[in-house]
Amino acid sequence: MAASSTPKTLVVVDHPLVLHKLSLMRDKNTPSAVFRQLLREISLLLAYEVTRDLPMTTQKIETPLTEMDAPILKGKKLVIVSILRAGNGLLEGMLDLLPSARIGHIGLYRDPVTLKPVEYYFKVPSDIGERPVIVVDPMLATGNSTAYAIQKLKDAGARDVRLVCLLAAPEGVKRVTADHPDVPIYTAAVDSHLNDHGYIVPGLGDAGDRMFGTK
Ligand code: URA
Repeated sequence: MAASSTPKTLVVVDHPLVLHKLSLMRDKNTPSAVFRQLLREISLLLAYEVTRDLPMTTQKIETPLTEMDAPILKGKKLVIVSILRAGNGLLEGMLDLLPSARIGHIGLYRDPVTLKPVEYYFKVPSDIGERPVIVVDPMLATGNSTAYAIQKLKDAGARDVRLVCLLAAPEGVKRVTADHPDVPIYTAAVDSHLNDHGYIVPGLGDAGDRMFGTK
């Protein structure tokens, strides 16, 4: 994505470990089990970045030597919302780092005629408005379903929403930023473009298929 058109809300986590692991994932010869493990490892690193500005407070504790005001996270536990089905691959790694997070799921498919997202499942905590929300969706392609999912979360009360994806296309970044300029997007890379079938190029293929060995 050209620097002049890079939205302020886009955070590209181009850490050497992330890029190395992503290159292994892109390779079409990487087997599903390795693909899943790499996704889990990258999602830990993305989780580290997306939680960097969480609010903090202090709590009095006693170390073996003395009392201290120790920094701890403030407020309610955050919510991770997985957009089915590929979102679950990112979710698992995130949970390794954030084991107490609440979990939401949104099921969407694309109507073959209208090409619009159709919702078949929506379940999130009822107090979502009081928690930071991290939406996980590995491939930000057209951005249509992601923008739709974020709107559904806002309709349910979410106020602090952050998006984590593994790979993004410029088209998807543009769409989500236009609809939700308040939502920061964390991704390992922004690729060149979408092809005629809506796949990210160079990309890594269908993330769900690569993860679950379906094809
Ligand atoms: N979804 C995928 O899994 N891959 C793409 O390249 C685009 C959307």
